[in-house]
Amino acid sequence: MTDFVRWTKQQDIAVITIDNPPVNALSPGVPEGIVAAVAEAESDRSVKALVLIGAGKSFIAGADIKEFVKLTSGQRRGDIGILAHLLKIEDSPKPVVVAIQGNALGGGLEVAQACHYRVAASDARLGQPEVNLGIIPGAGGTQRLPRLVGVERAIEMCTTGRPVGATEAAQLGLIDRVVAGDLLAGAVAFAREVAGKPIRKTRERSDRLGTPEQNAPIFAAARENARKKYRNQICQMAAIDAIEAATRLPFDKGCQEERRLFDHCLYSEQSKAQIHVFFAEREVSKIPDIPKEMPLLAVDRMAIVGAGTMGGGIAMVCANAGVPVALKDTDPAALDRGLATIEKNYAMSVKRGRFTREYVDERLKLIKTTLSYDDFASADMVIEAVFETMPLKKQVFAELDRVMKKGAILASNTSTLNIDEIAATTSRPESVIGMHFFSPANVMRLLEIVRGRRTSKEVIATCLQLARRLGKVGVLVGNCRGFVGNRMFLPYIREAQFLVEEGAAPEAVDQALVDWGMAMGPLAVGDLGGLDVSYRIRKEYRHLEKPGARQPFVEDRLVEMGRLGQKTGAGWYKYDAERRASSDPEISGLLRKWAAESGLAQRQISAEEIVEREIYSLVNEGARILEEGYALRAGDIDTIYVNGYGFPAYRGGPMWYADTVGPKKVYERISAFHRQHGMLWEPAPLLEELATSGGTFANFQRAAAQATD
Ligand code: 3HC
Ligand code: NAI
Repeated sequence: MTDFVRWTKQQDIAVITIDNPPVNALSPGVPEGIVAAVAEAESDRSVKALVLIGAGKSFIAGADIKEFVKLTSGQRRGDIGILAHLLKIEDSPKPVVVAIQGNALGGGLEVAQACHYRVAASDARLGQPEVNLGIIPGAGGTQRLPRLVGVERAIEMCTTGRPVGATEAAQLGLIDRVVAGDLLAGAVAFAREVAGKPIRKTRERSDRLGTPEQNAPIFAAARENARKKYRNQICQMAAIDAIEAATRLPFDKGCQEERRLFDHCLYSEQSKAQIHVFFAEREVSKIPDIPKEMPLLAVDRMAIVGAGTMGGGIAMVCANAGVPVALKDTDPAALDRGLATIEKNYAMSVKRGRFTREYVDERLKLIKTTLSYDDFASADMVIEAVFETMPLKKQVFAELDRVMKKGAILASNTSTLNIDEIAATTSRPESVIGMHFFSPANVMRLLEIVRGRRTSKEVIATCLQLARRLGKVGVLVGNCRGFVGNRMFLPYIREAQFLVEEGAAPEAVDQALVDWGMAMGPLAVGDLGGLDVSYRIRKEYRHLEKPGARQPFVEDRLVEMGRLGQKTGAGWYKYDAERRASSDPEISGLLRKWAAESGLAQRQISAEEIVEREIYSLVNEGARILEEGYALRAGDIDTIYVNGYGFPAYRGGPMWYADTVGPKKVYERISAFHRQHGMLWEPAPLLEELATSGGTFANFQRAAAQATD
């Protein structure tokens, strides 16, 4: 036994408890501790069966991911070393029953599969989420899972990474019983039922593995699906290969094949990037000048001003988290429209099987629409989501200052405006903060939390915690124009327009980036959101552009022609009634004509150049943001891009990607673009510094506190 594992007896049943907070990960010592406890309990003649349970709220969240970093960085040798321990547990002559509450994920589920019986509380989540880290199950999961649930479901679980709940797990054959009431008591009772019965070892089963004839079409369809859905990624294909090995090879040979494929994935750039994303997403809530123990404000009731696209979406987010919300607009028609959109979105979720009708009805009861501020006085927090103009925001915040109770948080969902200027219209700038949700707010995980110059630490800490409660990844950013995400996006979409003006077809620009891994191409994104949005921003902020800098002009002309994107049926592409895009020959003609009129030479532009100019424009602006302190860490920028802008997690985010290419190489390319295309490509000083010093963005630490404007 080790410090992480202890065992006690409940008469004839041994209860082994794994206690490695916070999530009972299988850190070094934990698997060894389980094996030792099993051996001790076995040798106690009064013990008839064993129960294995996790301390705290959860069973086991998997292998210790920090150990993977040690392996791939050379700090540790060998392998993760869980598999052999599981064989020993499985070989126990007395039945071992696993009692699962909370999460049984990755290596945690693999431990459970190696035990003889599995029971679970109704809140249990069982999954093989390794693909989210760019790897596959590495402790026999690809070999035992198909033996328990069949090939098809094993492929689904190992390639999507999605966990199943207890009821579904029971239907699948993954667990033997769902325990209502006290889990440990239920597991002990179950253990008494199976004590003395012959041991069943998962690895010796083959009844659900199927025949080659049955499996061939399943594997073919799975590979076809993985090729389409997980473009460029290696781990899903490796998971399928490993499961196929389970159907063709004896267990021990199958495990060897799993190990080979696991290592292939673990040592890949993709897995390193995804593990970086995992830790970066958790790092974002750690703010250097805000202690972990900072007291939080209670947020039990919310209010929203503006029932439009964002206000309605945010109301759904609150309701989904069980928080009652008052939603205000200026006239009944606007409220009706807002509520109709909310209902339509919920109906879609029911149709897709995400929510049940009853669940939705309960959520809708939490949203109260109103035309007055009467309901606001009891709210702990308000989020303003009215039109994006400063005079209106100021007027609304002056009203909120009057009606909201003392200590309430006043948040704005503005995407471009200065939070300090908004805060200055109130008597309590310390309570004012930006909560920049992304559209559609009920879907997108990203939330930029914008720190104003005077925003209090309690308010920041509360909003970071609230983000988690709302199911969002909240990233604290400084108060600069466009904050972090949109500030970087501006040069990215501008460069896409330059590429088109220089001769690349819009489809070629988008395709190059999609092939590289972006969820959508930049021009298609423009069409989706409406080209008029960035048009207005360009016009409004033209005076802030560097004098003499090149300006894109083609998109402005499209807007002036009424081609605003999907909503008008035409933008960079044309759209049918179902909003399906197709190339528009009119566009290619116009682009040639406009380029000729402007004296712009057009040429063939390679996919490689497109990708470099696009991704490096993100990196260069990201480097400035980091240096200026508007983002605390390179990982925060990566988290923003992976969660809000469709940046592929397997490339780690723009700053991580730049580190993998090498800051020196990125700097040299950007310097070449600078010479060729002019001042907009001036390399960021931090990039130059890293290129010279050999440093990386990941290791860059800014000395001063976070900048706020
Ligand atoms: N290894 C190491 N640390 C882990 C961990 C793991 N498997 N899972 C979580 N942690 C750490 C987090 O980094 C965080 O640390 P911090 O407090 O220092 O930031 C802390 O535990 C709490 O994690 P969360 O903030 O994520 O807590 P939540 O309660 O929101 O979520 C969870 C809990 C759902 C378990 C989530 O942490 C999670 O998804 N973890 C990863 C699960 C996973 O991917 N498991 C597979 C691992 S790979 C594997 O098992 C390979 C095997 O096949 C050999
Ligand atoms: P919208 O035009 O869909 O909705 C705005 C709503 O505010 C309308 O229903 C309007 O009637 C209401 N309104 C106007 N003045 C009001 C007042 N004085 N009191 C109460 N209600 C009032 O706008 P959208 O897109 O929802 O944007 C809202 C805010 O969110 C803006 O600041 C915008 O920049 C920001 N934002 C928008 C995103 C998007 O993709 N649409 C993404 C992120 C932020």
